[in-house]
Amino acid sequence: MSVITIAHLSDIHYGPNENSQVSTMLREKGVFVEKLLPVCLENLKIRKPDIILITGDITHDGSPEDYQYLKDTFSEALPDTPVFCTIGNHDIRSSFRSGFLNENASDTPYYASTIVKGYQFISLDSSYENGLLGIFTDEALDFLEEKLADPEVKGNFLLMHHPIMESARHLRFLMNDRLETMLKSGKITGIFNGHVHGCYTSTVHGTPQFTAESLKTDFDILHDRLSYNDRAGYQIVTFRENGDWQTERFILNPKTHIFFERMYKK
Ligand SMILES: [Fe+2]
Ligand SMILES: [Fe+2]
Repeated sequence: MSVITIAHLSDIHYGPNENSQVSTMLREKGVFVEKLLPVCLENLKIRKPDIILITGDITHDGSPEDYQYLKDTFSEALPDTPVFCTIGNHDIRSSFRSGFLNENASDTPYYASTIVKGYQFISLDSSYENGLLGIFTDEALDFLEEKLADPEVKGNFLLMHHPIMESARHLRFLMNDRLETMLKSGKITGIFNGHVHGCYTSTVHGTPQFTAESLKTDFDILHDRLSYNDRAGYQIVTFRENGDWQTERFILNPKTHIFFERMYKK
């Protein structure tokens, strides 16, 4: 039976020149992407996934050169493996398009699809309208509806930066009726996202939703604050044609220490 192996990375927040308090503290602790990403890629070289997904916040307000660095890092490690992305609230669309995709720089919303092993991956831009809260525009939903009409594919995987997760509070996706109808139709095989810097597996109207932790730094969402820790990781999700699936979580820095807390703005 055919199997598709999906490496799921999220929230890399690559930013060598970024000097927020969180990034500065992590660098002082010796935790930074240039060190974590090669560890992840060494494992992926062994596991040989069919596709690598990055579900947004690929860089932290990055330049075209930052995106180019990541693209080169992936293609040097796994030259034959496609890398397919969705845009997060910290991504710069024009830099992503020129540095990662080699396309004309443009700030318009990013929608894309690709087919691997007969499965269609559909990337929608949930960050365009708001940023912290995720929203799909009618344009995004039109794109999704059109892609889901393809009768040739074995299944459809939806990529979006924001998780459908009420407990994510001010970081959640704002659900809408059209997406609910599409989810209930059974045409969406799985949902991949990130943004909440934590690893969660859930279902939405019966559809599995895979939320990857950050490859930079995780945080816990508490009632009045975000509590940052130095854990980081990624996951591998495997799907079989009969609908069975499994996830494997890889934690890169399991001895977790809380190093920063940010209160919610009133
Ligand atoms: Fe993020
Ligand atoms: Fe985000």
